[in-house]
Amino acid sequence: MADRYVGGLRVAAPEPTLHLAKITREVAKTFWGDTAESTLATINDAFKPGGSYSWADSRIGMTDNGSIATHVGVVDFKMRVGGQTRLRTAGLAGIFTVEEHRRRGWMRQTMNDVLTALQPAGFDISLLYGIDGFYEPFGFRRAWSDYSFWVKAIDLPSEIDFELEEFTDEHPEEVIELAHRAYTSQTGSVVREGGWFTSLNEDRGHLWRGADGAIAGYVFTRLPDEQLLITDHAGEPNQVLAVVGHLMQRLERDRVTITCIPPACALARSLRQGNAREVVHHRRNGDALVRIVNLRSTLQKLIPEMKGALSRSLIPGWEGALRVDGDMESVTLHIEGGQLQIAEARADSPHVLAGPALSQLLIGTDDSEEFIEEGTLVASGEGRELASALFPARNPAMPAPDHF
Ligand SMILES: CC(C)(COP(=O)(O)OP(=O)(O)OC[C@H]1O[C@@H](n2cnc3c(N)ncnc32)[C@H](O)[C@@H]1OP(=O)(O)O)[C@@H](O)C(=O)NCCC(=O)NCCS
Repeated sequence: MADRYVGGLRVAAPEPTLHLAKITREVAKTFWGDTAESTLATINDAFKPGGSYSWADSRIGMTDNGSIATHVGVVDFKMRVGGQTRLRTAGLAGIFTVEEHRRRGWMRQTMNDVLTALQPAGFDISLLYGIDGFYEPFGFRRAWSDYSFWVKAIDLPSEIDFELEEFTDEHPEEVIELAHRAYTSQTGSVVREGGWFTSLNEDRGHLWRGADGAIAGYVFTRLPDEQLLITDHAGEPNQVLAVVGHLMQRLERDRVTITCIPPACALARSLRQGNAREVVHHRRNGDALVRIVNLRSTLQKLIPEMKGALSRSLIPGWEGALRVDGDMESVTLHIEGGQLQIAEARADSPHVLAGPALSQLLIGTDDSEEFIEEGTLVASGEGRELASALFPARNPAMPAPDHF
């Protein structure tokens, strides 16, 4: 409909001095439903210059009179894939069109501008937490499903023989270091450079120490309603569960939800041995969504992971060339003597992988066979065997405090 595109929109990078207050207020109104001072302060803190919010890569759309109509924020961070790869990730956040300007194609225009600029800016992939059904046309695919456990107080131990130390505002350095160690091979987790990019907000931290005085574990808690919510954890599973049970007793909660938990982590495995309900939220095209920004740089950074996976696969001695066809670029992987190299795409390569599930394949959202079965990954030649050998499922997850 022609009238949806009436009027011009000028898309540009925002300027902190001119636009921080307005962006903060709109984000508060749109996503928090209030503009209380404490809400504005929290958002302001997340967007402050010098933090992870990238003022150069984010975009606003302005109307003819210079007022902000749209905003797409870019959070610049490194996301782990396996134990060795860290992808430079553009996390898209605070995506809004001011209410009276919606349905004019202005967000499409703003998103296209953001996405076009990400590759020259050096990003490998992009990730966002999105509403259902909006982001598929921009090439985003489900990155992972969300796993949580519901447990009753009576099914948890509650005795602890160590002290708990609470923290609320700043994350102690030793907590950040423990998080690095705990998540070192967790695909989807954020490399917390300089701390967390979201401040604690509603989260309260509780840490404990071993006999040597060094930190042994932590849990982050929230009290949204009558239950206890655990948003992040590290430490030996029996100790974590005892701390959770202890906190439930102290806070008089009889049910706990451990949310956004990596499904293959030691705590999840331990919970499956006891009395617990495991809930998995699958969203066809919403929540955590991923898109390749630069296929070549992503594959280049994945080489150590692919090499390891190939050596453990059923075809460790495979040699030849595999072409990977993305939407915008094709890359060939040369495999010889267990070594992998990126080369220019060769039109005559008999082994090819292509399709919309490539981004999911690269981060290990699922088993490659699932994508081939559903038709979102097309494999020719020995592409099927190579997809399985090079790109295993990785059970990705991102702890709730890192959501943006
Ligand atoms: C979602 C939102 C950003 C869309 O902005 P917009 O400027 O109205 O979007 P556009 O006009 O550019 O629409 C682009 C396309 O998406 C479709 N679309 C618009 N809003 C949609 C929605 N809420 N759900 C699904 N599709 C939607 C449009 O029909 C259009 O498709 P078409 O090109 O095939 O006709 C806006 O409604 C908004 O700010 N909502 C509240 C905040 C929010 O939910 N943000 C997203 C957080 S992840």
